[in-house]
Amino acid sequence: MRAITVVPGSAGSAQLTEMPDPPLEDGPMLVQTMYIGMCGTDREIIHGDYGTAPAGDDRLIIGHESLGRVLEAPADCGFAAGDLVVGIVRRPDAVPCPNCAIGEWDMCRNGQYTERGIKERHGFASERYRIRPEFAVKVDPALHRVGVLLEPTSVVSKAWEHIERIGSRARWTPSRVFITGAGPIGLLAALIGTQRGLDVHVFDRVTDGPKPQLVADIGATYHSDSIELACGAADVVIECTGVSQLILSVIGNTSPGGIVCLTGVSSGGRAFPIDAGQVNRSLVLGNEVVFGSVNANRRHYETGAEVLARADVSWLERLITRRVPLDTWSDALALQPDDVKATIEFAV
Ligand code: BGC
Repeated sequence: MRAITVVPGSAGSAQLTEMPDPPLEDGPMLVQTMYIGMCGTDREIIHGDYGTAPAGDDRLIIGHESLGRVLEAPADCGFAAGDLVVGIVRRPDAVPCPNCAIGEWDMCRNGQYTERGIKERHGFASERYRIRPEFAVKVDPALHRVGVLLEPTSVVSKAWEHIERIGSRARWTPSRVFITGAGPIGLLAALIGTQRGLDVHVFDRVTDGPKPQLVADIGATYHSDSIELACGAADVVIECTGVSQLILSVIGNTSPGGIVCLTGVSSGGRAFPIDAGQVNRSLVLGNEVVFGSVNANRRHYETGAEVLARADVSWLERLITRRVPLDTWSDALALQPDDVKATIEFAV
């Protein structure tokens, strides 16, 4: 079968290659891949900056944002041939740590988790893959063109769940939400905020293309001018860019009790002077919280599936700005000026 593979650590090694059929040990369900989404993590892996092949393999099959169709499933496993499914990315570590032991692998404590398409496990960017039912999530057939957005939605569902858990440390009636970055993660985080009836503001540097209208169409407000003004006295900030200057601008710029959730993975290497004492003063005197959030467990995929099911499908379709055929898959790599999310079509 054909698969998109890389030699991790080796820039320029990404290719459409022939790979053996998926091994039975990956699970009893056989899934035909329909779409694979490309994100910043895939681009980092392809540039040789991230990712690890499975033990004993040189190449890693990439792809962690997926939508597929079940070809074979054991009787009574909750799935049947024809169902649409998304594969969960992370697998618990083998020790297991206290969180992985209870299915909270997104909070793995020892770093020995594996991730499909990223860390020590082949991903979903192959014509077929195998999976165990407990790591597959069913998607409503109405989402057959957009279900590939479930993985990024699971990541922001987790971020929102943790924001709310932190908020509940005291009486909490949030109103203003500020989101940096109108890429897929920022827009899906904004969607959840508006579904909760909050006053959502999204900041991005672009002034044209689809992003301003996508933000307006979910009832949120788009900003591209001064980040400090746009942030205002936010109760919740979700930082989705990983850009150092934006991170520094939002910390200490919230209302008292404000919560800043960092979701963007920065590349590092750029130092900025900061007044740590001033940041500390603002966090302490305001009871403010800054925390990081990555990945998602099964519960977050399930709430993510509900978020997508409640959303306007035509709005979700507009997030997928390009659908690239498998034969020319590398066209999905370079982001075009008006791109939000580019996907690769396997079998649709
Ligand atoms: C994925 C997460 C993963 C993270 C770190 C992100 O792009 O969406 O599932 O945990 O990369 O590898």
